[in-house]
Amino acid sequence: MGKCQVISHPLIQHKLSILRREDTSTKNFRELVNEIAMLMGYEVSRDLPLEDVEIQTPVAKTVQKQLTGKKLAIVPILRAGIGMVDGFLSLVPAAKVGHIGMYRDEETFEPVEYLVKLPEDIDQRQIFVVDPMLATGGSAILAVDSLKKRGAANIKFVCLVAAPEGVKKLQEAHPDVDIYTAALDERLNEHGYIVPGLGDAGDRLFGTK
Ligand code: PRP
Ligand code: URA
Repeated sequence: MGKCQVISHPLIQHKLSILRREDTSTKNFRELVNEIAMLMGYEVSRDLPLEDVEIQTPVAKTVQKQLTGKKLAIVPILRAGIGMVDGFLSLVPAAKVGHIGMYRDEETFEPVEYLVKLPEDIDQRQIFVVDPMLATGGSAILAVDSLKKRGAANIKFVCLVAAPEGVKKLQEAHPDVDIYTAALDERLNEHGYIVPGLGDAGDRLFGTK
């Protein structure tokens, strides 16, 4: 079973509380998603493999560490996942970015896929799927299905707010995928929204409601 790690750094918790407030503006919401994503990126990249490299300092030759050539891909689930991409890219600027477009049917809560555009060598990359919300888990499961269908094998899922129901469903469907979240909330309501959550992440990020 994949792990579900809550990344509860004080800076993340503080920023997340502002993000959740209903009176936070679109501008501030966007900036905060970006900042939290960067702080989370720092934690979730903790396991990236290192290799020895011999370098010359002004004083001596020495063997030090560098990241191995292992390639990364950041894959946001559209729309709201887009808000987390720049934060990740500020840490790993050379990473490639794939996109998976998905929306939830408002009545059934079932996700509908409308776009998949990935780096060609996605099967050789360490992938970070990013989406601020893990609610019923439907979107995350379908996104990982879609990646695996195209050969992807090394996938981590990073969100800001998760519901226990979504964590359980994603872990059952994809036990090889580790989940990282800034908060594990109480539950889903009858509309499939996370409680207390932060509302509709896509609408708040893009100001569409
Ligand atoms: C939101 C969110 C996730 C999904 C989570 O997207 O960004 O992708 O819902 O819900 P689930 O776990 O129940 O699938 P939404 O469908 O609102 O689309 P949007 O990002 O375009 O607003
Ligand atoms: N999608 C959102 O944007 N928010 C929720 O609370 C649930 C799904």
